[in-house]
Amino acid sequence: MRHPGETEEYISSLFASETEAHKHTSEALKHAYPKLYPIQLGPLEGKILQLLIRLAGAKKVVEVGSLAGYSALWIAEALPEDGVVYAINKDPKHHALLEGNIKKSDHARKIIPCLGDAKQVLETLNEKAPLDMIFIDADKSAYVAYLDWAEKHIRKGGLIVGDNTLLFGHACQDVPPEGERAPSKTAWRVMREFNERLANAEKYTSILLPTEEGMTVAVKEF
Ligand code: DHB
Ligand code: MG
Repeated sequence: MRHPGETEEYISSLFASETEAHKHTSEALKHAYPKLYPIQLGPLEGKILQLLIRLAGAKKVVEVGSLAGYSALWIAEALPEDGVVYAINKDPKHHALLEGNIKKSDHARKIIPCLGDAKQVLETLNEKAPLDMIFIDADKSAYVAYLDWAEKHIRKGGLIVGDNTLLFGHACQDVPPEGERAPSKTAWRVMREFNERLANAEKYTSILLPTEEGMTVAVKEF
Protein backbone atom coordinates (compact mmCIF):
# COMPACT_ATOMS: atom_id res chain seq x y z
CA MET A 1 0.00 0.00 0.00
CA ARG A 2 1.45 3.31 -0.97
CA HIS A 3 1.13 6.31 1.31
CA PRO A 4 3.73 8.75 0.02
CA GLY A 5 5.02 11.07 2.73
CA GLU A 6 6.31 14.62 2.28
CA THR A 7 9.77 13.48 1.21
CA GLU A 8 8.41 11.24 -1.54
CA GLU A 9 5.97 13.95 -2.68
CA TYR A 10 8.91 16.38 -2.90
CA ILE A 11 11.03 13.97 -4.94
CA SER A 12 8.15 13.08 -7.26
CA SER A 13 7.14 16.70 -7.82
CA LEU A 14 10.67 17.53 -8.96
CA PHE A 15 11.74 14.35 -10.76
CA ALA A 16 8.70 12.26 -11.67
CA SER A 17 5.98 14.36 -13.30
CA GLU A 18 3.12 12.28 -14.62
CA THR A 19 1.98 12.53 -18.24
CA GLU A 20 -1.70 12.78 -19.19
CA ALA A 21 -1.60 9.04 -19.99
CA HIS A 22 -0.34 8.25 -16.46
CA LYS A 23 -3.07 10.41 -14.93
CA HIS A 24 -5.76 8.87 -17.11
CA THR A 25 -4.59 5.34 -16.24
CA SER A 26 -4.60 6.07 -12.51
CA GLU A 27 -8.09 7.54 -12.68
CA ALA A 28 -9.36 4.59 -14.71
CA LEU A 29 -7.97 2.11 -12.15
CA LYS A 30 -9.34 4.12 -9.23
CA HIS A 31 -12.76 4.15 -10.89
CA ALA A 32 -12.86 0.47 -11.94
CA TYR A 33 -11.04 -1.07 -8.95
CA PRO A 34 -10.80 1.36 -6.03
CA LYS A 35 -9.33 -1.35 -3.79
CA LEU A 36 -6.52 -2.12 -6.24
CA TYR A 37 -5.59 1.52 -6.80
CA PRO A 38 -3.15 1.66 -3.83
CA ILE A 39 -1.12 -1.29 -5.14
CA GLN A 40 -0.23 0.54 -8.34
CA LEU A 41 3.34 1.83 -8.60
CA GLY A 42 3.94 5.44 -7.57
CA PRO A 43 5.58 8.01 -9.89
CA LEU A 44 8.87 7.81 -7.96
CA GLU A 45 9.10 4.08 -8.66
CA GLY A 46 8.09 4.63 -12.28
CA LYS A 47 10.96 7.08 -12.65
CA ILE A 48 13.40 4.64 -11.04
CA LEU A 49 12.42 2.09 -13.71
CA GLN A 50 13.05 4.70 -16.42
CA LEU A 51 16.47 5.49 -15.01
CA LEU A 52 17.39 1.79 -14.90
CA ILE A 53 16.23 1.30 -18.49
CA ARG A 54 18.33 4.21 -19.71
CA LEU A 55 21.41 3.15 -17.71
CA ALA A 56 21.22 -0.43 -19.00
CA GLY A 57 20.31 0.59 -22.56
CA ALA A 58 17.35 -1.76 -22.31
CA LYS A 59 15.25 -2.32 -25.42
CA LYS A 60 13.32 -5.54 -24.75
CA VAL A 61 11.52 -5.64 -21.42
CA VAL A 62 8.98 -7.96 -19.85
CA GLU A 63 6.68 -6.91 -17.05
CA VAL A 64 4.97 -9.55 -14.93
CA GLY A 65 1.78 -8.09 -13.45
CA SER A 66 0.82 -4.95 -15.35
CA LEU A 67 -2.62 -4.19 -13.87
CA ALA A 68 -4.01 -1.04 -15.58
CA GLY A 69 -0.80 -0.25 -17.46
CA TYR A 70 0.62 2.53 -15.29
CA SER A 71 4.09 1.01 -14.87
CA ALA A 72 4.16 -0.20 -18.50
CA LEU A 73 3.66 3.43 -19.55
CA TRP A 74 6.66 4.56 -17.48
CA ILE A 75 8.71 1.74 -18.99
CA ALA A 76 7.59 2.42 -22.58
CA GLU A 77 8.40 6.13 -22.35
CA ALA A 78 12.03 5.33 -21.54
CA LEU A 79 12.46 2.77 -24.34
CA PRO A 80 13.90 3.66 -27.74
CA GLU A 81 11.60 3.84 -30.79
CA ASP A 82 12.12 0.15 -31.55
CA GLY A 83 11.83 -0.94 -27.91
CA VAL A 84 9.08 -3.20 -26.58
CA VAL A 85 7.59 -4.09 -23.23
CA TYR A 86 5.56 -7.30 -22.96
CA ALA A 87 2.91 -6.42 -20.37
CA ILE A 88 1.53 -9.58 -18.77
CA ASN A 89 -1.81 -9.79 -16.97
CA LYS A 90 -3.63 -12.90 -15.82
CA ASP A 91 -7.03 -11.25 -15.33
CA PRO A 92 -8.83 -10.58 -18.66
CA LYS A 93 -10.52 -7.51 -17.13
CA HIS A 94 -7.17 -5.98 -16.17
CA HIS A 95 -5.83 -6.86 -19.62
CA ALA A 96 -8.78 -5.06 -21.27
CA LEU A 97 -8.39 -2.05 -18.98
CA LEU A 98 -4.69 -1.82 -19.90
CA GLU A 99 -5.48 -2.05 -23.62
CA GLY A 100 -7.86 0.90 -23.30
CA ASN A 101 -5.54 2.98 -21.14
CA ILE A 102 -2.40 2.71 -23.25
CA LYS A 103 -4.25 4.09 -26.28
CA LYS A 104 -3.94 7.50 -24.59
CA SER A 105 -0.15 7.35 -24.86
CA ASP A 106 2.17 8.25 -27.73
CA HIS A 107 4.20 5.19 -26.71
CA ALA A 108 1.36 2.65 -27.01
CA ARG A 109 3.01 0.90 -29.98
CA LYS A 110 5.88 -0.20 -27.72
CA ILE A 111 3.52 -1.95 -25.26
CA ILE A 112 2.45 -5.49 -26.16
CA PRO A 113 -0.35 -6.62 -23.83
CA CYS A 114 -0.11 -10.35 -23.06
CA LEU A 115 -2.98 -12.22 -21.43
CA GLY A 116 -2.46 -15.37 -19.38
CA ASP A 117 -0.74 -16.99 -16.46
CA ALA A 118 2.70 -15.37 -16.34
CA LYS A 119 4.61 -18.65 -16.10
CA GLN A 120 2.99 -19.79 -19.36
CA VAL A 121 3.27 -16.43 -21.11
CA LEU A 122 6.97 -16.24 -20.19
CA GLU A 123 7.53 -19.60 -21.89
CA THR A 124 6.05 -18.13 -25.09
CA LEU A 125 8.58 -15.30 -24.83
CA ASN A 126 11.56 -17.68 -24.84
CA GLU A 127 11.84 -17.12 -28.58
CA LYS A 128 12.36 -13.38 -28.01
CA ALA A 129 15.25 -14.06 -25.62
CA PRO A 130 17.63 -12.77 -24.58
CA LEU A 131 15.64 -9.90 -23.10
CA ASP A 132 17.24 -6.87 -21.42
CA MET A 133 15.06 -6.52 -18.34
CA ILE A 134 12.30 -8.14 -16.33
CA PHE A 135 10.12 -6.20 -13.89
CA ILE A 136 8.31 -8.53 -11.50
CA ASP A 137 5.22 -7.18 -9.75
CA ALA A 138 2.67 -10.03 -9.68
CA ASP A 139 1.82 -12.79 -7.20
CA LYS A 140 4.38 -12.66 -4.44
CA SER A 141 4.44 -16.46 -4.05
CA ALA A 142 5.77 -16.93 -7.59
CA TYR A 143 8.72 -14.49 -7.59
CA VAL A 144 11.25 -17.34 -7.48
CA ALA A 145 9.60 -19.05 -10.46
CA TYR A 146 9.93 -15.78 -12.41
CA LEU A 147 13.54 -15.50 -11.25
CA ASP A 148 14.24 -19.02 -12.55
CA TRP A 149 12.95 -17.90 -15.96
CA ALA A 150 14.90 -14.63 -15.80
CA GLU A 151 18.19 -16.37 -15.04
CA LYS A 152 17.82 -18.23 -18.32
CA HIS A 153 16.39 -15.52 -20.55
CA ILE A 154 17.72 -12.13 -19.42
CA ARG A 155 21.03 -11.24 -21.06
CA LYS A 156 24.31 -10.83 -19.21
CA GLY A 157 24.34 -7.19 -18.09
CA GLY A 158 20.55 -7.10 -18.13
CA LEU A 159 18.31 -6.24 -15.20
CA ILE A 160 16.12 -8.25 -12.85
CA VAL A 161 13.86 -5.98 -10.82
CA GLY A 162 11.16 -6.90 -8.30
CA ASP A 163 8.58 -4.71 -6.56
CA ASN A 164 7.35 -5.23 -2.98
CA THR A 165 10.48 -7.11 -2.00
CA LEU A 166 10.22 -5.90 1.60
CA LEU A 167 6.98 -7.92 1.59
CA PHE A 168 5.02 -5.28 3.50
CA GLY A 169 7.55 -5.23 6.31
CA HIS A 170 7.76 -9.02 6.68
CA ALA A 171 10.80 -9.84 4.51
CA CYS A 172 13.20 -8.75 7.27
CA GLN A 173 11.70 -11.15 9.82
CA ASP A 174 13.50 -14.45 10.16
CA VAL A 175 10.40 -16.37 11.28
CA PRO A 176 7.26 -16.81 9.14
CA PRO A 177 4.63 -14.08 9.60
CA GLU A 178 1.55 -14.76 11.73
CA GLY A 179 -1.81 -13.06 11.81
CA GLU A 180 -4.87 -12.53 9.67
CA ARG A 181 -3.48 -9.72 7.56
CA ALA A 182 0.03 -11.12 7.22
CA PRO A 183 1.22 -12.45 3.85
CA SER A 184 1.19 -16.23 3.43
CA LYS A 185 4.11 -18.29 4.73
CA THR A 186 4.77 -19.28 1.12
CA ALA A 187 5.02 -15.65 0.01
CA TRP A 188 7.40 -14.96 2.93
CA ARG A 189 9.60 -17.97 2.14
CA VAL A 190 9.62 -17.16 -1.59
CA MET A 191 10.44 -13.48 -1.11
CA ARG A 192 13.27 -14.34 1.29
CA GLU A 193 14.72 -16.72 -1.30
CA PHE A 194 14.24 -14.18 -4.13
CA ASN A 195 16.20 -11.53 -2.22
CA GLU A 196 18.86 -13.98 -0.99
CA ARG A 197 19.50 -15.27 -4.50
CA LEU A 198 19.74 -11.77 -5.97
CA ALA A 199 22.06 -10.73 -3.13
CA ASN A 200 24.70 -13.21 -4.36
CA ALA A 201 27.57 -10.90 -5.30
CA GLU A 202 29.19 -13.61 -7.42
CA LYS A 203 26.20 -13.53 -9.79
CA TYR A 204 24.70 -10.05 -9.44
CA THR A 205 25.53 -6.43 -8.78
CA SER A 206 22.45 -5.71 -6.74
CA ILE A 207 20.65 -3.88 -3.97
CA LEU A 208 17.25 -3.79 -2.34
CA LEU A 209 16.31 -0.14 -2.81
CA PRO A 210 14.47 1.12 0.26
CA THR A 211 11.45 2.53 -1.55
CA GLU A 212 8.25 2.46 0.48
CA GLU A 213 7.51 -1.07 -0.79
CA GLY A 214 11.09 -2.19 -1.40
CA MET A 215 12.45 -2.70 -4.92
CA THR A 216 15.21 -5.24 -5.52
CA VAL A 217 17.40 -4.29 -8.48
CA ALA A 218 20.01 -6.70 -9.85
CA VAL A 219 22.36 -6.52 -12.81
CA LYS A 220 22.87 -10.08 -14.09
CA GLU A 221 26.62 -10.68 -14.33
CA PHE A 222 26.51 -14.12 -15.95
C1 DHB B 1 0.14 -5.61 -3.19
C2 DHB B 1 0.72 -5.92 -4.41
C3 DHB B 1 1.58 -5.04 -5.01
O1 DHB B 1 2.19 -5.31 -6.18
C4 DHB B 1 1.86 -3.81 -4.41
O2 DHB B 1 2.72 -2.99 -5.04
C5 DHB B 1 1.29 -3.49 -3.21
C6 DHB B 1 0.42 -4.39 -2.59
C7 DHB B 1 -0.77 -6.58 -2.54
O3 DHB B 1 -0.94 -7.67 -3.09
O4 DHB B 1 -1.34 -6.25 -1.50
MG1 MG C 1 3.80 -4.01 -6.56
